[in-house]
Amino acid sequence: ELDISQVTTIDDIDVPVVKGDFNALPLKVRQFVAKTVNKCTPRGIWICDGSPLEVQEIREKMESRGQFHRLNQQKWPNCYVCRTDPLDVARVEGKTYVVTDNRYESVPHVKEGVKGILGNWMSPEQMKQEMTGRLPGCMKGRTLYVIPFSMGPVGSPLSKIGIELTDSNYVVLSMFVMTRVSPKIWNILGDKDFVRCVHTLGAPRPVENIISHWPCNPERIIIAQYPEDRMIISFGSGYGGNSLLGKKCFALRIASSIARDEGWLAEHMLIMSVTNPAGEEKFIAAAFPSACGKTNMAMLESSLPGWKVKCVGDDIAWMRFDKHGRLRAINPEAGFFGVAPGTNRKTNPIAMETLKSNTIFTNVAMTEDGDVFWEGLEKYVDMSKKFIDWKGRDWKIGQEGKAAHPNSRFCSPASQCPIIHNRWEDPEGVPIDAIIFGGRRPEGVPLVYESFSWEHGVMVGAALKSETTAAAEFKGKQIMHDPMAMRPFMGYNFGDYLQHWLNINKPDRHMPKIFHVNWFRLDEQGNFMWPGFGDNIRVIDWICRRCNGEEIAQLSPIGLLPTPGSINTDGLDKLDMEGLFDLPKDYWVEDIRETRQFLDDQVGEDLPTTIQKELQQQQERISAM
Ligand code: GDP
Ligand code: PGA
Ligand code: MN
Ligand code: MN
Repeated sequence: ELDISQVTTIDDIDVPVVKGDFNALPLKVRQFVAKTVNKCTPRGIWICDGSPLEVQEIREKMESRGQFHRLNQQKWPNCYVCRTDPLDVARVEGKTYVVTDNRYESVPHVKEGVKGILGNWMSPEQMKQEMTGRLPGCMKGRTLYVIPFSMGPVGSPLSKIGIELTDSNYVVLSMFVMTRVSPKIWNILGDKDFVRCVHTLGAPRPVENIISHWPCNPERIIIAQYPEDRMIISFGSGYGGNSLLGKKCFALRIASSIARDEGWLAEHMLIMSVTNPAGEEKFIAAAFPSACGKTNMAMLESSLPGWKVKCVGDDIAWMRFDKHGRLRAINPEAGFFGVAPGTNRKTNPIAMETLKSNTIFTNVAMTEDGDVFWEGLEKYVDMSKKFIDWKGRDWKIGQEGKAAHPNSRFCSPASQCPIIHNRWEDPEGVPIDAIIFGGRRPEGVPLVYESFSWEHGVMVGAALKSETTAAAEFKGKQIMHDPMAMRPFMGYNFGDYLQHWLNINKPDRHMPKIFHVNWFRLDEQGNFMWPGFGDNIRVIDWICRRCNGEEIAQLSPIGLLPTPGSINTDGLDKLDMEGLFDLPKDYWVEDIRETRQFLDDQVGEDLPTTIQKELQQQQERISAM
């Protein structure tokens, strides 16, 4: 066997370098590549530079092989559609693990007989076995791409560097959009450490029965995060959340664990700024589970005149307190990996503008003449045309089944967003005034409420629930707990995570106010009670005024509610505002009982006493309703 510590030049490994200068890479990178090459046996090594020429080269290769479908280039410059194997369309939470020596480093002390849902743990020994059964020869016949990337602006003190090794060209092109890939990274890195990311489709050549030109290995998917070693290994899936390792695996799972050690936060949050008609700007970070409205809120187009929204990020926030006690947030990503269905010129004109060029669409439908289509675009596309659905079959409106997969995505550079904030790459980050939690709650939960305190706000986050969506493998709609919208992305014990949130509250710090919103309450006919999208500015307006200390809130058992008339509804059709803020006692009695049970079962002895106390007080207030 090859002794990796002895590898210094390309002559020490017998796989050709197709592109780039292997010998010029930092030694630690050379050894990381050598180790992976030795195990996975690709046929060549390609060192990426992320240049436009390289993009073109890879794109052409994919097009000629039928992996990329070209759109009408006049209308959609540099835009392509990619279709996945129908078995590889979403994140696979059940096969995603955090690997640490000590189980309770990764997951809480779950009550006996209860199946933990706040993260999956596996021991290093067992994971080694799992990987030994998968990795040897897994890249046979494929090119191994070496992608140097920065999460956060290249060279910023808040940024972190990763190297992803992948055998998927789709991953390469998507990483170029979602992260900052540049040869400058080799110099900045020097002999420092980096996050080691290995991704493989798990489909060595020759493969039989490739569906949609999308090689993968769905039965054997496994995604392993090693926070202690700052390492990620992802096997078997090409789907974004499983394969673009800078995103969920690094910027949330690995980073949350680093953040705990270093006293900061890595969260599943959008970052936006809102400026009111008086010219006063505030920054907001909001955590909603996947497919619950982050991208839309981050790009909101105000229905109220005079308001301006600017986008800093749509999915992930890294936040730390500065020396003045202000919480500062950066978006570690460089692109948007947004949900396509539902997006149109009315719901999200800004996203439509952003995705007009240089976009990789995955699992959307196409028209015969090279237009894109998904559910929600019926009014904007000539529906008499011929369509090809996300599986590559002929499709017609009215036909059973959807044209686009519900979790179909657009992958576009953030710099193309017309309302991207001019400080979105500020290495200092932007100062956060308010934190918002939310989810899809068809019943019982009001449009907005404010927490009583930081501690109560952390409890509200811990109690977050939402209807399941197509972003992960769950079937059907069920209300599921998703504390802090981080359930699938936790890099360490959730009890410790809550304690960490409590600990960052210090007297000399300006703590953001914490709110909860729900755009998704339904009436008896099953229609949304609130218009949502651009009208959400009306709720944000109330939130901003609360941050300014306006007395427009009244006590309720679950938090502070807007006083009647304090939400601006000018110009809206008649709304059932009373219904939107109704708190059915039976509903909340059951909700708090179930939430306490859940946290007791799932977090057990790791649940901070402060949170236990908050839960108990909430229950007492609700009982007295
Ligand atoms: P993300 O995955 O959290 O970024 O969520 P998105 O912003 O991509 O939204 C996911 C889905 O929810 C899309 O189909 C949107 O059209 C829909 N959505 C987003 N915001 C709203 C809203 O305010 N009201 C309603 N009814 N739907 C929304
Ligand atoms: P989302 O990101 O939050 O925009 O859905 C992808 C995901 O969480 O899978
Ligand atoms: Mn997300
Ligand atoms: Mn999104």
